[in-house]
Amino acid sequence: MTQPFVPPHVQHLDVYQPGKPIEELERELGITGALKVASNENPCGPSPKALAALPGALPELHLYPDAGGFALRRALADKYGLELAQLALGNGSNDLLYQLVLATCEPTDEVLTHRFAFLSYRLAAQVAGRTFVAATVTPELACDVDALIAAITQRTKLVVIGTPNNPTGSIVTRGGMAKILAALPARALLVIDEAYAEYAAEWPEVDHADGLALLRTDRRVVVLRTFSKIYGLAGLRVGFAAADPSVVDVLGRVGRTFHVSSLAQVGAIAALDDDEHVATSARQARIAIERLRAEVRGPGVRVYPSLANFVLIDCGRASGPIYDGLLRRGVIVRPMAAWGMPDHIRVSVACEADMPRVITTLNEIFAA
Ligand SMILES: Cc1ncc(COP(=O)(O)O)c(C=O)c1O
Repeated sequence: MTQPFVPPHVQHLDVYQPGKPIEELERELGITGALKVASNENPCGPSPKALAALPGALPELHLYPDAGGFALRRALADKYGLELAQLALGNGSNDLLYQLVLATCEPTDEVLTHRFAFLSYRLAAQVAGRTFVAATVTPELACDVDALIAAITQRTKLVVIGTPNNPTGSIVTRGGMAKILAALPARALLVIDEAYAEYAAEWPEVDHADGLALLRTDRRVVVLRTFSKIYGLAGLRVGFAAADPSVVDVLGRVGRTFHVSSLAQVGAIAALDDDEHVATSARQARIAIERLRAEVRGPGVRVYPSLANFVLIDCGRASGPIYDGLLRRGVIVRPMAAWGMPDHIRVSVACEADMPRVITTLNEIFAA
C-alpha cells in the first residue's frame, strides 16, 4: 500500500528475504541435521585466534569502541603496506558500499556494475535514490569489460566490480581491470569488491586483478575487503576500505560513529594474524570447488568455475523444485531467482566431512 510519507525510490525497493534459521526449517520439515550451504560462510568456523582474543575484551563492554578503529587500522596498514589515512572501517564491507554512494553520488549520478553482480550494489544505489546501471555480461556470465566500458557515461560516479563476483564466482583479469581504470571518467571511482580475495589467492595460476596493487598506481581505486568470509567472522560485522585519504575522509563524514563494535575490532585484529586458519580455509575451499565441478552431474547441469567459496550451478531447468528437493533432504542452498537467474542455485562449500553429502544429494536431486 502506498503511504504518503514514503518517497517513490523507497517504495520500490526490494525487501531482503532472509533465509530461515536452520532450527526453524528443521521444525517445519520434521528433519534434523540440516546443512546450510547458502550464505558463503566459512565452513571451517571462526578464526581460532579471534575466538581466543574475544573473551579478553568482555570486561570493557561498558566502554564505547574506539571510533577511529586505530589498532585495527594500524594492523591493516602494517599487513598491507598502506598508510593509516588510506583505511576506513565498516560494519561489514556492505556498510562501506552504502557510505560510498552517500558520500560521492549527487542526485543525477549513476552507479555502474554488470548484470548478475552482487545484489547490494543495486540496493546501495537505490536506497540513496541514485540511478543504477547494469552492463551486459559475457556468455559465461562474467564481467564483459568492453560492454561495461561502453555503459560509462558522463554521469557515472561509481563503477563497482566484485572479483571474484558473487554469485557467479567470475573474476576480472589484471588487464581487464586496467582497461576499466583507463576508461574511468576523471570524476569517478572504481570500487573493487574483494570479499573473496584470500580465497582467490589459492589459485595463483589464474590471472586475477589485484585491487591493492592498482590502488598504488591510481588514487581513484577503492578496495573493499571483509572479515565475514575467510576469517569466519560474519557475525561480528566488520570490513574495511583501502582508498585514497580523500575518499577515506568523506567516508568518515557520512558514516555513523561507533559503527564497528569493540568485539569486532578485537576479533578482526586477532584474525588478521591467523595465517594458519586462512591457509586451511583457502585450501579446503579450492578442493571443495574442484570436487563440485568434477563430481556434480545431471542432465543440462553446469557447475561454473569459481575462485571463491561457492559455486553457481545452472540446473538446466527451473531451480524452484530443485531447491525444494534439496531442502527436504536437509541441504539448504540459495536459489538465484532474485538475481534474475530462475534456473540457477548457488552452493557454498561445506567442510570436508560434509562435502560427500552435498555432492551426493545434489546428484540425487538432479537425477530425479
Ligand atoms: C561480493 C560480496 N561483497 C560483500 C559482501 C558482504 O560482506 P560483509 O559481510 O562484509 O558486509 C558479500 C557477502 O556475501 C559478498 O559476497
